[in-house]
Amino acid sequence: MLRMNKDSFVFSKKSSKSFHTVWKAPSNIALVKYWGKYGVQLPKNPSISFTLSNCVTTTEVSFSPNDKKKYPTFEFYFNKNERKDFHPKINQFFEYILPYFPILEDHHMVISSINSFPHSSGIASSASAMAALALCVVDFEKQFHPELGEQDFFKKASFLARLGSGSASRSIKGPLTLWGKSPAFRDSSDLYAIPFDSGIHKIFKTYCDTILIVDKEKKQVSSSVGHKLMQEHPFAENRFDQANRNCEFLKSVLKTGDIERFIEITESEALTLHSMMMTSSPRYLLMKPNTLNIINRVWEYRFETNTPIGFTLDAGANVHLLYPAIESEKVITFIKSELLDYCQSGQFIQDRVGQGAKKM
Ligand code: PMV
Repeated sequence: MLRMNKDSFVFSKKSSKSFHTVWKAPSNIALVKYWGKYGVQLPKNPSISFTLSNCVTTTEVSFSPNDKKKYPTFEFYFNKNERKDFHPKINQFFEYILPYFPILEDHHMVISSINSFPHSSGIASSASAMAALALCVVDFEKQFHPELGEQDFFKKASFLARLGSGSASRSIKGPLTLWGKSPAFRDSSDLYAIPFDSGIHKIFKTYCDTILIVDKEKKQVSSSVGHKLMQEHPFAENRFDQANRNCEFLKSVLKTGDIERFIEITESEALTLHSMMMTSSPRYLLMKPNTLNIINRVWEYRFETNTPIGFTLDAGANVHLLYPAIESEKVITFIKSELLDYCQSGQFIQDRVGQGAKKM
């Protein structure tokens, strides 16, 4: 097993060859939120997420030797169109991962990505995109180092995906993953996410997530700016402590299947995330009036019908409705009849908990 720390899992460089691989990686939705980082993409608090099933990025990479250059070169295609505007983000990713992948340095890559969900839906695709790209890169390396075992392969992929986008570290495995050092989880680390699938109550293995698209526009304040604002945030330390405690509470809730407590923790996490935005300096709001309309209506519906449906929010205006699969018929009827008016162009995405990334 690889000892994953910053220096201990770099393989020596071997002679180059061409290689082609395709990986499909899912998006994820955090239940306990990561908000605030230190060093190079390391989290100030542990986070836990559901891995999704339908919101995925499929990425294909062709690697070919390019002896003349001492830096990886690439072309990038998104939904079959060449997209140079993605280059800065991908360049930064290669810059971060190169010390761990000397093998990449004299290669040219043709990278082609397709998202299953609309790019302009306001759903961040960086988690699934970075996870899929990281998996392609580790797969390439494995050709030269077949001794890389399955567990280490995915650990390294999570480590690399993290360097592209923190939450991407949680998009490798499923149905739930934890990223960040937590005293409640043995083997947890700030460097990569770990899956936890043993001891999870069966109700959470098929949980549903309906994503209500409230606003498709690019958000006004990016997550990287939001993470930075946590550095000087007056409530930061309390927030990090709270997230640590919530990871611990959620661990036992996920075992017992206590949905009431699950809803309490996840809704509180969502609203706390947005409170951090509202109380940072400068302050900002990513929720829209329809985000609040949906939350209020969901609360009324839960109270009136006793249906165990809760919500969570990403760093944006869209609402993720979380509920057990056995409730889905009833909940979808409710969504269609009462919530779609609050969605931009009536758009929503039906998803559920998934098992993690796959080689195609
Ligand atoms: O991975 P980033 O840097 O885009 O940050 C994601 C932060 C949240 O989505 C708001 C929370 C999370 O844990 O995914």
